[in-house]
Amino acid sequence: MCRNLTKYAVIFFFLALSGLIFLLRNIHTVENWNCHTISTLYQLQSRIQSSFIPVNLPPFYHNRTFCSHLGQKPSPEDEVEERYLLDSISWPGPPSHSSPPTLRQTSDPVHSLFAILPSKEGREWHVGDQLEVLVQMHDFLGRPKRYGGDFLLARLHSPELGAGVAGKVVDHRNGFYSALFPLLWEGSAQVEVVMVHSSEAVAVLRRLREERPDRVFFKSLFRLGFLSETTVCNMCLPPDQPLCNYTDLYTGEPWYCYKPKMLSCDTRINHAKGGYLKHLITNKEALLFQSGVNIKVHIYPSGTHKISVQPQRDKAEEENSSINPEDTQLGASGYYYEDSWRPLGGATMRQFNQSSAVAQCLQNKVINMYGDSTVRQWFEYLIAFVPDLKEFDLHSPKNVGPFMAVDSTHNILVRYRCHGPPIRFTTVMSSELRYISNELDGLAGGSDTVVVLSIWAHFSTFPVEVYIRRLRHIRRALVRLLDRAPETLVVIRSANLQALDQEVSLYNSDWFSLQLDVVLRAMFKGLNVLLVDAWQMTAAHHHPHALHPPPAIVKNMIDTLLSYVCPDNTKSQK
Ligand SMILES: *[C@@H]1O[C@H](CO)[C@@H](O)[C@H](O)[C@H]1NC(C)=O
Ligand SMILES: *[C@@H]1O[C@H](CO)[C@@H](O)[C@H](O)[C@H]1NC(C)=O
Ligand SMILES: *[C@@H]1O[C@H](CO)[C@@H](O)[C@H](O)[C@H]1NC(C)=O
Ligand SMILES: *[C@@H]1O[C@H](CO)[C@@H](O)[C@H](O)[C@H]1NC(C)=O
Repeated sequence: MCRNLTKYAVIFFFLALSGLIFLLRNIHTVENWNCHTISTLYQLQSRIQSSFIPVNLPPFYHNRTFCSHLGQKPSPEDEVEERYLLDSISWPGPPSHSSPPTLRQTSDPVHSLFAILPSKEGREWHVGDQLEVLVQMHDFLGRPKRYGGDFLLARLHSPELGAGVAGKVVDHRNGFYSALFPLLWEGSAQVEVVMVHSSEAVAVLRRLREERPDRVFFKSLFRLGFLSETTVCNMCLPPDQPLCNYTDLYTGEPWYCYKPKMLSCDTRINHAKGGYLKHLITNKEALLFQSGVNIKVHIYPSGTHKISVQPQRDKAEEENSSINPEDTQLGASGYYYEDSWRPLGGATMRQFNQSSAVAQCLQNKVINMYGDSTVRQWFEYLIAFVPDLKEFDLHSPKNVGPFMAVDSTHNILVRYRCHGPPIRFTTVMSSELRYISNELDGLAGGSDTVVVLSIWAHFSTFPVEVYIRRLRHIRRALVRLLDRAPETLVVIRSANLQALDQEVSLYNSDWFSLQLDVVLRAMFKGLNVLLVDAWQMTAAHHHPHALHPPPAIVKNMIDTLLSYVCPDNTKSQK
């Protein structure tokens, strides 16, 4: 009996073993037959893997310099530039000696006020004048604030005329702010002032940016045969465990993953957003980020918020009326009128209402778009708007790319590729993970080449030095491109405003975006590149802020892009 059992057990064991071998062989054959099945299996596997991720979250060194200076040391000139750029975005904060404020001592939009200052002739304004609005901030107890640093947005608009312009906000650092607007249209205009964050909230954001670049983390899947592991990745990781070093050979851009336990570093298959760390702020700090209380809340006028703008005073002046667009900080670079964007100074805006006009403009062009999802949106707009522009199926993952569209009738090629790490997309294959500067080095360029860049949203969790370094590499590549092919058209899309709640604020606040945006403009100043001012196009529009602006705004952006590609005077040319 006992012997028999053992015999059966042995037989059973062999049966099970051969079953397993049979199964494995079959899976192997299936792998050869059917890529789709395997990729489904593999997706399932990576989904299972990813659920294990948060277990070994990296601790982080709370060290201001840890992240930014990993990688190549900047040259002395680069360091001078970096210092200049960082100075240009310095932001006043609450006095550092004071103890952490209680909510009651922080800026309260409801208690704060703004007033329209009288013009030189009392209450009469003309087109071409400047309107000044004075904002006074108060705390929750109604006491005037004595220091600056609140993040305010101001807009002058007219719903009847479909008109709007972003104001320039000047911080007097004593609780008072001026909002300045050029008066650009005749008729009614009303002022809108919004407190995006209190100065106390900005101080928290600044600390997060310097000390918690780990608050968004990344992951990579490593795979060899049937073995797979997923580890955490980032721009910088504490060197307390073995690391895989994916520092880019050409640019020196740093990127690291924890080394998988069993697999080698060169088995990395993909790169993906890992997740967002929670509990970044104290309960007390969380009170500074309340939707409807102190995130993007309107400030009320003490008197009227409306003015009536008379025609321009002197007809002769009108010819000279080009208002100087100080488009570094928040000077108006354009405005909406009848819901169409009108740039100030520079190109004349054309409207491309018909898909045929777009196709005609882009005829014989290759349009290369690189960056985050805010330029992918342009790609999507174009393929949706122009029926002849057909997306070519590259079997790329949805929303990730790379993407390509072709109009063979008009000989148009449009491509989109996401920027390199720290891209926060779902899953990018390692083989498709490229730095923009390296991609630019691979372009011949020329009069039929258009390059469109948008790189900002995925850098807001890192110290600004990281962004400066990235833009420096891109700028060098652009300089090389424009040297070998000066006729290449380069268009840069700036950052834009987005919807904020507490959670989004901590990772992606408009305050981070604003700081990056100022750097972006300064970095490409003097270079032969054109800007689509997405910041002001979203700040001046009546539509609520959204990371991916609505079609009405995207149309204006695309019209601006196409006006650069096909300026008015070449209308009749190819
Ligand atoms: C941050 O880390 C670097 C390198 O590990 C070290 O040299 C520096 O002293 C640290 N700074 C602070 C403020 O702890
Ligand atoms: C990663 O590699 C780069 C380039 O080879 C090197 O400069 C850097 O020091 C390496 N990082 C670490 C932490 O070893
Ligand atoms: C227009 O501007 C030019 C140059 O700035 C100046 O010489 C000219 O007098 C101005 N014309 C009028 C009518 O203001
Ligand atoms: C494009 O459409 C807008 C809005 O319908 C209209 O105001 C404008 O005149 C049109 N422009 C052209 C060039 O057709």
